[in-house]
Amino acid sequence: GKVGIIGVPFEKGQHKQGVAHGPKAIRAAGLVRELELLGLDVKDYGDISYKAKNVDGINNMSHLGDVAGCTNCLSEQIQQILKEDRRVLTIGGDHSVGIGTIDGHVKEKKNVGVLWIDAHADLNTNKTSESGNVHGMPVALLTSELADYWPHLPGMDWQQPMLSIRNVAYIGLRSVDCYERLVIEKFGITAFGMEDVERYGIHDVVYMALNKIDPNESKSLHVSFDIDSLDPLEAPCTGTPVRGGLSIREAVHLMEMLYRTKRLNAVDLVEVNPHIGNQRDTQLTVEAAIHIIQAGFGYTRRGLKVPEGVTD
Ligand code: ARG
Ligand code: MN
Ligand code: MN
Ligand code: MN
Repeated sequence: GKVGIIGVPFEKGQHKQGVAHGPKAIRAAGLVRELELLGLDVKDYGDISYKAKNVDGINNMSHLGDVAGCTNCLSEQIQQILKEDRRVLTIGGDHSVGIGTIDGHVKEKKNVGVLWIDAHADLNTNKTSESGNVHGMPVALLTSELADYWPHLPGMDWQQPMLSIRNVAYIGLRSVDCYERLVIEKFGITAFGMEDVERYGIHDVVYMALNKIDPNESKSLHVSFDIDSLDPLEAPCTGTPVRGGLSIREAVHLMEMLYRTKRLNAVDLVEVNPHIGNQRDTQLTVEAAIHIIQAGFGYTRRGLKVPEGVTD
């Protein structure tokens, strides 16, 4: 298997400094080495660089020109990595980077199913958001059914929402704004909150989510994993923590299941902010991120197979 890594040290989708240092912290914990130990051909494409776009006149979307510039470059980079026949791992950065990764994935593979693993729905528009932070808006920007709820956004013309909301499933929700809840109900969006994880267990939740968004087992799958889906006791270093989240075991189980589909072609790992909390907090959070990534790229807790060519 071949994997491409792209770092996105971007933090202007929200207002806390430090999340731009996520890629550096995750790489420093041995990301490339851990993936190579899985027998993968790993190519690290480094960090994305971008030019901000000139945008004004849009209300309640902080730093839209930066978000637009960064996610446009990122979308093109994702398409390139997938064209080179690599699965792609994107390290954020805040969750606005999901605009670029999912846009690129959909442009390249067309038929895409998205699992949005998050405490939050990230489904606001500039009219419903209470924060004006674009990291709370990516799902609404990406999906065709929600296109009518946006004004024309200069700088975002490259991004035509081509993903149907029917191809998106949430897991881990526990902090949903009232307009987000309204949209989830109106469109019947596949959404498993923490109470569903409690009721059915993570295995059945993932099974049901896949069955809903990809009943024919034909889609290219994309996991956009917000580290704040985890319980803050297990991953404290994140900008918008919400207590009562997924355990690391549930998250690893989820990623192992998705890896086994053989159709998991893109993983985003976002919202790790190494500047929040103390050194132990940072270590916990970064280690959790590494475990989740490893499971998504083929690590199994049962142990790996003996590498090919090695006998007795
Ligand atoms: N719903 C809130 C907002 O719109 C919080 C979003 C948090 N998003 C995230 N990617 N952590 O601002
Ligand atoms: Mn600002
Ligand atoms: Mn979140
Ligand atoms: Mn998020």
